[in-house]
Amino acid sequence: MERIGVVGAGLMGAEIALVYALGGHDVLLADTSEKLLADALKRLGGVLEKGVARGFYKDSEPAAALARIRTTTDLAAFADRDMVTEAVFEKEAVKAEVFKRLDTVCGPACLFASNTSTIPISTLARHVGAERRPRFIGTHYFSPVSRMKLVEIIPHFETAPETIQAAMRLAKGAGKTPIRVKDVAGFAVNRVFHAFLIEAVKLVEEGVATPEDIDTACKLGLGHPMGPFELMDAFTSSLTLEVQEILFESYGERFRPPALLKQKVRAGHIGRKVGKGWRVG
Ligand SMILES: NC(=O)c1ccc[n+]([C@@H]2O[C@H](COP(=O)([O-])OP(=O)(O)OC[C@H]3O[C@@H](n4cnc5c(N)ncnc54)[C@H](O)[C@@H]3O)[C@@H](O)[C@H]2O)c1
Repeated sequence: MERIGVVGAGLMGAEIALVYALGGHDVLLADTSEKLLADALKRLGGVLEKGVARGFYKDSEPAAALARIRTTTDLAAFADRDMVTEAVFEKEAVKAEVFKRLDTVCGPACLFASNTSTIPISTLARHVGAERRPRFIGTHYFSPVSRMKLVEIIPHFETAPETIQAAMRLAKGAGKTPIRVKDVAGFAVNRVFHAFLIEAVKLVEEGVATPEDIDTACKLGLGHPMGPFELMDAFTSSLTLEVQEILFESYGERFRPPALLKQKVRAGHIGRKVGKGWRVG
C-alpha cells in the first residue's frame, strides 16, 4: 500500500495517478493550479465512465479509485510519499525544478521516477542529491495510460537493483507489464516505432502508395489497430518530427526525418489538432 505521488496532471500524469488508484494505492496528484487539477479529475471521471460501459471496470471501481486520489498545488504535501512519478512538461528545466523541490521535501527512502520520453534518465538524475540517485529511475508509460499495458523501466548508471525491482513491482500492481530497457535515446519502443513511421512517409514520398492505403495495409496486413498516418495525425506531425530529430542526433542517418514530414510541419499541417494533416483536411 505504498503512498504514491504524481506531479503533473496532464494527459499522462492524470491517468498514471488513476492506474495507481485502481491498483489500491493512496495517490496524491499535483499540478500548478486548482483548475488544472479539477479538469484532470473530470477527465478521469469520463475515462472511468467509458471503461465501465465497455466492461473494463466493475461498477464499484470508479468511485473507490477516485476517492483514493487527492490533489494539491503544493509539493510540500509530498513529504509522506513512498514513490513519486514526475509527468510535467518535456523540458529539462521544468523537471529539474520539480525534482530539486521533491528532493528537499520527500523522505530519504522515497523513490523518484520520471515519465520523460526523450531526456536521458542519467541527465535528470543529476538534479537530485547523490543519496537519492540510487532511488531514481525512468518509468515510461504509453498513451492512453489507462489502456496501454506497457511500461518501459529505465535504470540510469547509479540506479540500485532494489529500485528496479520496486519499480517493476509497482508497475505490475498498477496492471501494467514492465520491461527493462537501457537508458538510450528513444528507449526501445520509440526506436522501433519511428523507424516504422519514417519508412511509411518514405513510401508516400516515393509515390509507392497513398497515406490512406498504407494505413489500410498496416491495419489489414499487420494487424495494427491504427495506421501510421492516422497515428501521426492524432499525436501531431510536429511531435513526430521533434522525436525523430533527437533520434537522428543520437543514431545518425537511419533516423533522418523524411523531407516530406518536415515540409508538412513547416506548412502547419500537423494533424487533427489543426484540421489539416495526412488524412484530415
Ligand atoms: N503524451 C504522450 O503520449 C507521452 C507518452 C509518454 C511520455 N510522455 C511524457 O510525459 C510527460 C508529460 O506529458 P503530457 O503529454 O502528460 O504533457 P501535458 O502537457 O499534457 O501535461 C503536463 C502537466 O504538467 C503540469 N506542470 C508543468 N509544470 C509543473 C510543475 N512545476 N509542477 C506541477 N505540474 C506542472 C502542467 O500544468 C500540465 O498539466 C512528458 O515528459 C512527456 O514527454 C508523454
